[in-house]
Amino acid sequence: MEIKTVKGFKDILGEEATLFEEIENKAKSVAQSFGYQPIILPTVEQSELFDRSIGNTTDIVEKEMFTFEDKGGRILALRPEMTASVARSFIEHHLETSALPLKIYYFGQCFRYENPQKGRYREFYQFGIEAIGDISPVLDVEVIQVAFEILRHLGIKDLKVKLNSIGCRTCRPNYKNLLIEALKIHYDELCNDCKKRLYKNPLRILDCKKESQELKESLPKMVDYLCTDCRTHFEKVKTILTQLGIPFECDPNLVRGLDYYSKTVFEVVSLELGAQNALLGGGRYDYLIEDLGGRSTPGVGFAMGIERLIEVLKKRNYTVNKLPKVYIVYDQQFITFANEIREIISKEYVVELDPKGDNIKKGVERASKRGALLVFIIGENEANNNAITIKNMKSGKQITVKREEMLKSAKELIEDD
Ligand code: HAM
Repeated sequence: MEIKTVKGFKDILGEEATLFEEIENKAKSVAQSFGYQPIILPTVEQSELFDRSIGNTTDIVEKEMFTFEDKGGRILALRPEMTASVARSFIEHHLETSALPLKIYYFGQCFRYENPQKGRYREFYQFGIEAIGDISPVLDVEVIQVAFEILRHLGIKDLKVKLNSIGCRTCRPNYKNLLIEALKIHYDELCNDCKKRLYKNPLRILDCKKESQELKESLPKMVDYLCTDCRTHFEKVKTILTQLGIPFECDPNLVRGLDYYSKTVFEVVSLELGAQNALLGGGRYDYLIEDLGGRSTPGVGFAMGIERLIEVLKKRNYTVNKLPKVYIVYDQQFITFANEIREIISKEYVVELDPKGDNIKKGVERASKRGALLVFIIGENEANNNAITIKNMKSGKQITVKREEMLKSAKELIEDD
């Protein structure tokens, strides 16, 4: 029987793989330009890490974790996200002693046992950043700004930030009670999941896709019950976003699917993506490190899904700027000469050496199949005269030039076209 990829897992090939690397490179370089540094985290963690951070009443922990017991009897999980791992690492390595805020970025795969569909996979890649150790709303805005800058570098413009504040441990309990009271009246209308959420995690009912908009609109809003500290923080975030010209829209029903958030939560959506339209999500998590046993340390960050970004880039016919390809066709006896040429021109071109070196005519045909813009031909005549014949595959124009002039002539042959 043919062996195929596992459900929800996929190969990333060809153009998609090129786009994948483009996103990775652009994201990393933008994060670096804002002073963020890399962290490389393990894929497997103790399952308890996610129970205690994401929360054991969330869909991710309750239904979607790849959990297993290793040969030593440890209960482990493939990470469903990376913020919890960052927090674990921060505590484990006493990073509170470093200059705060610690600004880090990460890139890697995450695993969630979800129902696979477009934009939703069981293995997917995230790029994310975290700024840990400072409560300032400037950092909430900075992480959104980094996200926007990455997307701008990828040419994605039809974007919207959805913003909300979900309060803190001072104001949220009171709001939760009000919400439960308001929802109890509608108990029979709730979907089965929300019936279970009512007392355990009522905020999640606000972003359940099965509940009606009418019901959600009738419910009390967290933003109307924020304590002074949370309200001031939220107002500052909105003011700075406005000052920096970052478009946002307040969405009182945005609560996010992870329990560690407090105060600011946000998502950036693309109008081109349809149902799975959150390109990225994030927020503040001022209790996470403390809840995992560290010193009380605030943090804020976001993570973006690479597969969803690839979809958007494909729809927009994004082209990765690649160096033009030169294909070197040569007579086998001149392989050393051909290789010297390859070394010289490889700084400015992608260069492929014909693997056969048998027949010039067939070599040129292979060059065409491999999408070369220029073919460098080294036959007996050329080798004896320390020269190269350069052919532009698009225009068909061909010239023979001395080796010292080949770079200049190649450029002219491309520009002439
Ligand atoms: P999240 O919203 O669960 O947040 O995931 C972030 C992004 O990962 C989503 O916006 C989406 O693009 C992508 N994503 C999530 N699940 C899937 C899936 N099954 N298939 C494809 N892409 C997916 C977090 O993970 C938080 N750790 C973000 C954060 C960082 N908050 C603070 N710092």
